[in-house]
Order: sequence, then structure tokens, then C-alpha cells
Amino acid sequence: MPQPSYTHLGGLRDIESFRRYLIERQINIPCDNTLITDSSSPLAQPIDIGGTKVGNRIAAQPMEGWDGTSEGRPTELTFRRWERFGASGAKLIWGGEAVAVRHDGRANPNQLVINKHSRDDLSRLRETLVTAHKQAVGSDSHLIIGLQLTHSGRYSRPNVHGRPEPKIVYHHPILDSRLGITPEYPVLTDQELKEIIEDFHNAAIVAAQAGFDFVDIKHCHGYLGHELLSAHTRDGDFGGTFENRTRFLREIANAVRAANPALSIAVRFSAFDMIPFRKEPSAETCGAPEPSGGLLPYHWGFGVNVDHPLEPDLREPIQFLSLLRDLGVKLVNVSAGSPYYNPHIQRPAFYPPSDGYSPPEDPVKGVARHMRVTRELKQRFPELNVVGSAYSYLQDFLPYVAQAAIREGWTDFVGLGRMILAYPSLLLDVISGRTLQRKLVCRTFSDCTTAPRAGLPSGCYPLDPLYKNSADALQLKKLKATKKTHGEDR
Ligand SMILES: Cc1cc2nc3c(=O)[nH]c(=O)nc-3n(C[C@H](O)[C@H](O)[C@H](O)COP(=O)(O)O)c2cc1C
Ligand code: SF4
Repeated sequence: MPQPSYTHLGGLRDIESFRRYLIERQINIPCDNTLITDSSSPLAQPIDIGGTKVGNRIAAQPMEGWDGTSEGRPTELTFRRWERFGASGAKLIWGGEAVAVRHDGRANPNQLVINKHSRDDLSRLRETLVTAHKQAVGSDSHLIIGLQLTHSGRYSRPNVHGRPEPKIVYHHPILDSRLGITPEYPVLTDQELKEIIEDFHNAAIVAAQAGFDFVDIKHCHGYLGHELLSAHTRDGDFGGTFENRTRFLREIANAVRAANPALSIAVRFSAFDMIPFRKEPSAETCGAPEPSGGLLPYHWGFGVNVDHPLEPDLREPIQFLSLLRDLGVKLVNVSAGSPYYNPHIQRPAFYPPSDGYSPPEDPVKGVARHMRVTRELKQRFPELNVVGSAYSYLQDFLPYVAQAAIREGWTDFVGLGRMILAYPSLLLDVISGRTLQRKLVCRTFSDCTTAPRAGLPSGCYPLDPLYKNSADALQLKKLKATKKTHGEDR
């Protein structure tokens, strides 16, 4: 596919130019003309979640840093990141970061692991966040903090950077070969899945003891929970029917609820997906979908149109939300796709990560797709509290869109991922009437994704002073020049 042409948003002068940009390209997202810079801002309004008040509409998305010890314990860098999450002023902290429920389910050898020995570490991380939050906004009232529990499934790399040790639930006609999975490679058995359910259950007990308000049973981005949702071709209790494909979620939710009635359950899920994309050989071309010719109807996705696997189909995601509601889940985080096989839909960016591909569409369209789906789901489930994702590409215009999205009810919370790494207090600065610091705005350089692919800690290398001039930054620069990275991602 030839490169589509689009403008880098950093080049647009003001909000008027951005609004014109949207109209000219027929991109339908809400966008205010001016910012409300005091407590009457829609972003500053509290909201009730099942009887618990949350102080504003800003959510810090989970952002992992590849900086834990080999035993899965936090390091100084981890504590610093959680401090910045707290200082962001967000009153909803979604999980901090993905924490693996067992060693072999880690996405990288530096991912945090939760087990009965981690209670004090996690409790200290939480405390660090709360202290920074109090310093930033004066009080920790109506601050809600969750922990994201994960098993990385197909994308497990627990022992060595760059060495995949996949745990798959079915054979995938495109993704298997990318990880060197042969047709004989074993799939997780039903018994093994039951053991993992038990790990999630035990992890939730530890999270509750460490003081977290909720746990997220992660179902997004190609990891185990998400892969199970698309296990149409799997036999047994966890494959085939919708009921079987959601058994993993139901069993974890029921076990967690039985053991900890006071601990809330939340779910982050990929609400829509597409067939995997690949990098094209020529530098002049952008990423392209894998040929779907022999694979139709496409039975290896969740929230994908089986006849046109470049289009979402929300019928099952809607069924999924009905199930969550019936399970008593009140808080849902809408994400999409996977950073491994279609990063441009999951995390719209201008600059691709080292082994990614040039965006096949204007990244604003990717943001708009997320927002449209989130809005549709919110409209269908007004009783659920919804967090929207993938706003960071909007850069300087993010606050204008976020304010309008909350006011017009497109979402209950604006979730910030990369922007929190680059400029944690962006939205807090808006609602506090402080001047915005343009030099801190995330420009989607993707170094926070490229660095871990090179075995380095994730962080905002271009903008965060801690990383900017570090030895790791130098190494990253050299590796980018020689493209020696491991293909590791989130
Ligand atoms: C470095 C990095 C680490 C991430 N870690 C996680 C994670 O641990 N769990 C998760 O659900 N999403 C993770 N994500 C995805 C983000 O939460 C978010 O969905 C994504 O970056 C899009 O939002 P944004 O446009 O605000 O960045 C990560 C993204 C990045 C760039
Ligand atoms: S490295 Fe920094 S500027 Fe680049 S995408 Fe990540 S957070 Fe944004």
C-alpha cells in the first residue's frame, strides 16, 4: 500500500486549524473551541461507580515499564513511574501496569509478578502513588486505584529478552509463524487453564491485602484472556461457543467475588480487532493487512467482521458487556486490537516503533475509531462506567477533545497512556488553570515501545528528563540506527 499523506498534528497552529482538519477529512469526533480551566470543567466532575465516588474523569491507563527485577519485584524506576501516575491528578488509576499472575505468563523478564510474597512491594507502590497524588492535588479523597492482572499467553517471554515462550490456546493461521510456532506446538490444556484461573484468584487476594480497590482481569491486546475470546476453533470447555470462550472470565470473576466481596472487579478488553498487519518490504509503503483470501470467513478474531476482517463487528463485544453487567462488573476499559499485530489500531502514532510499520491511515482516524466504538458501547450500557483509550495522538488538542467527549457523554473517563509518560499532569494543568507546557506533549515518537524491544526499560526517552540524557538513551539511539531490536512489544 502506498503511504497515505497526512499532517503531523504538531504542525497545526491552533484549535481552529485542528477543527478545520477534522471537518475537511470528515472525521467525526467532538472537540471544544475553548478549555474550561477551573472546577466547572467536565473533566473535573466526580462520578459514582456502584456507590463509590471517583473525584474526576481522568484515568491513568496501565503502562508497564520493563524495569522490575528478574524475580518480578519493583525497582526505583517502577516506583518513580507510579509516583508520576499519582502526580497526574487522575482520580482513576487503572491498574498501574500489567502484573503477571505467574512467572511463565510474564510478557518480559522484567515484568512485575504477583504472588504471596509481593504484598508489601505492591502496597508500597500504591502508597508511593497516593503520596504523590496528595502532594499534587492536596488530598487523596475519591482516588480509586486498581491493579491489572495478566497472563501474557501467546506473548509470554518470561526468561530472556527476545526469546518467545508462547502459551497458546489455539493455533493461529497467521500469528503462529511469526513466533516460530509449529503445528505440533502444544496448546494449553483445559486443566492448565484451570490452574491459571486459580492463579488469578490468588493474585486478587494479594491485591486486596495490598489495599487496591479493584482488580482488572485483563482481556485485551492479544494476551491470554483476549486470545480466549477468539478461541472459536478450540475444542473443550474453553473454546467454540461464546459461553465457553468466556468461561475463563466467569470463573475468575466468581472466584474473586467469593473470596473478596469488597474487592471490585473491572475488565479492560479489546472491543474490536482486525486481521494482523505486516510491514511491507519497500520504504515507500505503509503497513498492510495480511492477505485474508484463503481465511474467510475469518474465525480468529473477537469483535471482527468475519467476512471483512478490516471492519469491527460489535455484536459479540456487546454480548460480552451484557455478561460483565450480569457478573456485577461496573467498570470497563475499552481498548482495541494488539500492539503486536496491528499497533496502528491499538495505539495510533505518527512514528512507528522500530519493527512496526508506517501507519496505513491518518492516526486521527484511529483515535476516532476508538472513540466511536466507546461511544456506541456507552450508549448501549449507560449503567456501566466506561474508560476510553488511545487519545495521546491528539497531542495539543487532546484536552479539547477530552473535555467535549466527557460533556457529550461519549465516555465516562478519558484514559491517558503515553501522554502520562511524557506529560503526566496535562489534564490536571487544564482543570487547575495552569499554562500548558507544549514541550512536554507526547508526539508519539514510539521510543517507549522501541526501547523494550531492545531490552531497555520503557520510558519517554525524548521528553522525560530522567531518560533523555541517560546511558540507555544513548544505547537506544545506537540500536535504532542499526535496528538491532528484539521485536518485543506490549
Ligand atoms: C510503554 C507502554 C506500556 C503499556 N503497558 C500496558 C499495560 O501494562 N497494560 C495495558 O493494558 N496496556 C498497556 N499499554 C497500552 C496503553 O495503556 C494504552 O492503551 C495505549 O498506549 C493507547 O493509549 P494512548 O494513546 O493514551 O497512549 C502500554 C502502552 C505503552 C506505550
Ligand atoms: S517515547 Fe514519549 S513522546 Fe514518544 S510515544 Fe512514548 S511517551 Fe510519547
